[in-house]
Amino acid sequence: MTDTTWTDTTCADMTCTDVIWIAIGHIDDIPRRGARCVTTPKGRIAVFRTADDAVFALEDRCPHKGGPLSVGIVHGHFVTCPLHNWNIGLDSGLAQGADEGQARAMPVRNEGGALFLALDAPPQPAVAAE
Ligand code: FES
Repeated sequence: MTDTTWTDTTCADMTCTDVIWIAIGHIDDIPRRGARCVTTPKGRIAVFRTADDAVFALEDRCPHKGGPLSVGIVHGHFVTCPLHNWNIGLDSGLAQGADEGQARAMPVRNEGGALFLALDAPPQPAVAAE
């Protein structure tokens, strides 16, 4: 791979925004049902790989009391926070059940296993691995 960033222009609700994708590594760098962290200008981002090879990115901060979601237990498309067991949806960052709160979710693009993260784009569904 020679180019590690590119810019897309997306338009939603008649508002166009530039999206900058940054290369963050390969899907094989992340164990299934695990996570790795990326440090960005926007903070520490946890990148999760599920058992079915979907990849999601959330800020590494639980919406409850800031626990590190990157060391939580990944099950299905959820992560359980290691501090007080809140379940967080990996696609949205939303706390599940009676709990309320949301970790910021970021889009991840999977290009043949090479992963790219968009920091300034609105949340989108994750892309499953090929
Ligand atoms: S900090 Fe995550 S559940 Fe409390």
